[in-house]
Amino acid sequence: MTVTGYLAPLDMEELLKKELKNILHQYDRLILAEGPPQKVYWVQNIWFDTQVIPFTSISDAAKKLRELQKLWSLYPYQNIRRAGLITSSLPYFSPKPLVFPATMPTSPLGSWTLLDSETLLASAHCSSPFAQGEVHFQESKIPPSRAYLKLWEALTRIGKVPKPSEICLEVGASPGSWTWVLQELGAHVIAVDKAPLAPSIANLPNVTFLKKDAFSLGASDLPKLDWIFSDVICYPEKLLSWIKKWLESTPEVNFVCTIKFQGEIDYDIIREFEKISGSTILHLFHNKHELTWMKIRNS
Ligand SMILES: C[S@@+](CC[C@H](N)C(=O)[O-])C[C@H]1O[C@@H](n2cnc3c(N)ncnc32)[C@H](O)[C@@H]1O
Repeated sequence: MTVTGYLAPLDMEELLKKELKNILHQYDRLILAEGPPQKVYWVQNIWFDTQVIPFTSISDAAKKLRELQKLWSLYPYQNIRRAGLITSSLPYFSPKPLVFPATMPTSPLGSWTLLDSETLLASAHCSSPFAQGEVHFQESKIPPSRAYLKLWEALTRIGKVPKPSEICLEVGASPGSWTWVLQELGAHVIAVDKAPLAPSIANLPNVTFLKKDAFSLGASDLPKLDWIFSDVICYPEKLLSWIKKWLESTPEVNFVCTIKFQGEIDYDIIREFEKISGSTILHLFHNKHELTWMKIRNS
């Protein structure tokens, strides 16, 4: 029987369970379901072909894991001390935080945990190259909020960043952490919000601030854009119709937008976003009750 493991983002187990069919077991945030991987949004790492592996000693456990794959990351569930001893018998794996702009790690990473003192649960092949799907960066104290981390993560995961002198429209920009990221890359940022930017960001040379309603802006009001970013707090329907308007006028533009939810998740609207050709929708490690929708030109 094929068994797939799904690691839920912190405190999002219930959202993930609502999406999954054929659930077999739950080990805190790790949920096992029968069958090949299912399409789910509220997941941080998928454990493909999860196996239950009995073992007789610490060295036997490490040997069995090493036979499947070189690098492993522990999902700490129980028997934590014993799991630590197994970890110390495996090849050393302690990656440094990424320094943005960064590339995605290329080494495959397996995931494992202990079900009891003599049983491993392991997957040699996971969807994320990061331990537990957690994308950690060497952080900066300059931006005015921590929102810059989700943009760093989005750009790292798509493997593309705005080039120097490209023009970015960024809506819902206040207090200015995304604006800071984009101008640091050398792009020109047209930052739009009804609230002001932090003065330290508004005064940066490549930043033009427009105190406006984002949804009142169209292509005829602005220069030709290379990128559109949105972190506006609004209903997903409103964001979707705004994006469709931009796609008609500027089909070649790259998009990175957060889809924010209040209460129940509307999967019909997520599917509408997904119907847009070239779309990717992810729950990033730095996303909260929101998903990130991206559409990136192939060039
Ligand atoms: C989550 S915050 C954005 C944080 C920002 N990305 C950063 O990095 O600092 C959402 C922003 O959306 C703005 N907003 C909400 N509705 C808007 C609208 N119709 N037009 C422009 N901005 C809007 C709010 O004023 C708020 O500043």
